[in-house]
Amino acid sequence: MGKHLITSALPYINGVKHLGNLVGSLLPADVYARFLRTQGEETLFICATDEHGTPAELAAREEGLPVSEYCAGMHERQRSIYDSFGISFDHFGRSSSPQNAGLARHVYETLDANGFIAERTTGQVYSRADGRFLADRYVVGTCPRCGDRGARGDQCEHCGAVLDPVDLIEPRSSLSGSSDLEIRPTKHLYLRADALANDVDTWINRQEGWPKLTRSIAHKWLDEGLRERCITRDLDWGIPVPREGYEGKVFYVWFDAPIEYIGATQEWADLNPEGRDWRSWWYNADDVTYTQFMAKDNVPFHTIFWPAAMLGTREPWTLATQIKSFHWLTYYGDKFSTSAGRGVFLDDALDILEPDYWRYFLLAQAPETNDASFTWELLATVVNKDLVGIFGNFIRRTLTLADRHFGGQVPPCGEPTQAERDLGVDVREALRRYRVSLLRLEYRQAVSELRHLWSLGNHYLDTCAPWALVDTDRDAAGRVLHKAINLAYLFAVVASPVIPFASKTTITALGMTGRGSEPSWDEAADLNAVPSGHTFRVPELIFRRITQSDIDNWKERFEGTIV
Ligand code: 2FM
Ligand code: ZN
Repeated sequence: MGKHLITSALPYINGVKHLGNLVGSLLPADVYARFLRTQGEETLFICATDEHGTPAELAAREEGLPVSEYCAGMHERQRSIYDSFGISFDHFGRSSSPQNAGLARHVYETLDANGFIAERTTGQVYSRADGRFLADRYVVGTCPRCGDRGARGDQCEHCGAVLDPVDLIEPRSSLSGSSDLEIRPTKHLYLRADALANDVDTWINRQEGWPKLTRSIAHKWLDEGLRERCITRDLDWGIPVPREGYEGKVFYVWFDAPIEYIGATQEWADLNPEGRDWRSWWYNADDVTYTQFMAKDNVPFHTIFWPAAMLGTREPWTLATQIKSFHWLTYYGDKFSTSAGRGVFLDDALDILEPDYWRYFLLAQAPETNDASFTWELLATVVNKDLVGIFGNFIRRTLTLADRHFGGQVPPCGEPTQAERDLGVDVREALRRYRVSLLRLEYRQAVSELRHLWSLGNHYLDTCAPWALVDTDRDAAGRVLHKAINLAYLFAVVASPVIPFASKTTITALGMTGRGSEPSWDEAADLNAVPSGHTFRVPELIFRRITQSDIDNWKERFEGTIV
């Protein structure tokens, strides 16, 4: 039996994430993990906060906290938000863990021993007032091209010019505002991606099943030719570089972040060593299928640089089997942005609506083939049509009718007629298509198949009209409601990866919890799992309509964030 390893790109520690981060990696990874678990597959779903780098330092400084304290607090905050969204990590770790430091050192030392690390001396901006080297984007000044006074050392946001800090007119530190800057020589270590290009090329060319977006980004980088890449920084916060002369330097955040996928697995195993072996997932682990989830800007690191580093160790590390990547979710056409505070952040989102509304909507609109635009109007349309109109409506009218006419007990199933036979065929076909979409990691399609499956229930009820039959043929009405209740059960069971909370509420109302293992989809698809005579109750409203006044209120509340 194979095993499934799933990782979601590690969210940066510097603040609460937004809906774009959720739909771009955490949520699809969760749906896949939940789906595989329902199919009885051995699954390990790993994520962590990405805690190193200058953004973490700056966020901590803004809050007036030591970086380690800031990170510990924000890790907990993020963890609790993902938990509320039902993201079912097996472990949510921290890239600042000792396990990650140990692994990063090991990878570096092995690469060095194999000749894939080079040392170079470069000139870098040093701020005497700040007592530190400045990353390019922390040097600001006047753009030599357009004259904008707020250009950064890496780029002018105003005219788009790609810059070097030395190009800036009147450069100053964005940390202290000081213009007392100089170029100082400093030594850094480089990963010889150029020398590993053939290995990466061979590996990428073996990957036949990667989605188009992932493949096109990887090939673009390969075709441009790989250059060596700096893996160290002059910073205090990070994993110290274990090399003489490198005191005060740490690994670049993108060197140790992906290694934390392994580090977090080690953290998970260390928490409960009995029966948990991190190596069996990562080292010499031929039986592992490894699926990664991320937004498109992360693809070069996951298809080129991280594999280059791991291949360069010449050790048998698990590499990705599948890499699912996403375009951007935009907020009324503009990119969600943490730094600009634009969009809907996850804590605010939970304040407005329960997690299943977001999960369903975001997956239905997943930016898989293009960027997708978030609007409140679209959220209302999708929720009202699908969750309220199709799923919620079916569950409620089925159980209300059965309760009214059969006193809270599942009626006898009777002899199936052509209607039930047709229903059985349609249900199986819809379920098959839904499963295939999930296996292919096609989320929009999966949601559309799920919606189609649900709509078969409403169609069956409308055709058989049990509310009219009760007066003329009570047995027939009972048969229809028996099937409808079983459909409700099936709908809730198979919806669990997408809307786990509503799924659970429905299964609980049907009195079908506590039956040991997870219900099997095939068993539920037989439409006999809920037996005659079984008692159920009518659940509270599962999904409520979003009204025009909700939309108006939310738009007003988030108005400041539309630019
Ligand atoms: O882009 C980001 O949000 C990064 N923090 C993702 C890191 S993914 C991994 F490699 F750690
Ligand atoms: Zn400019």
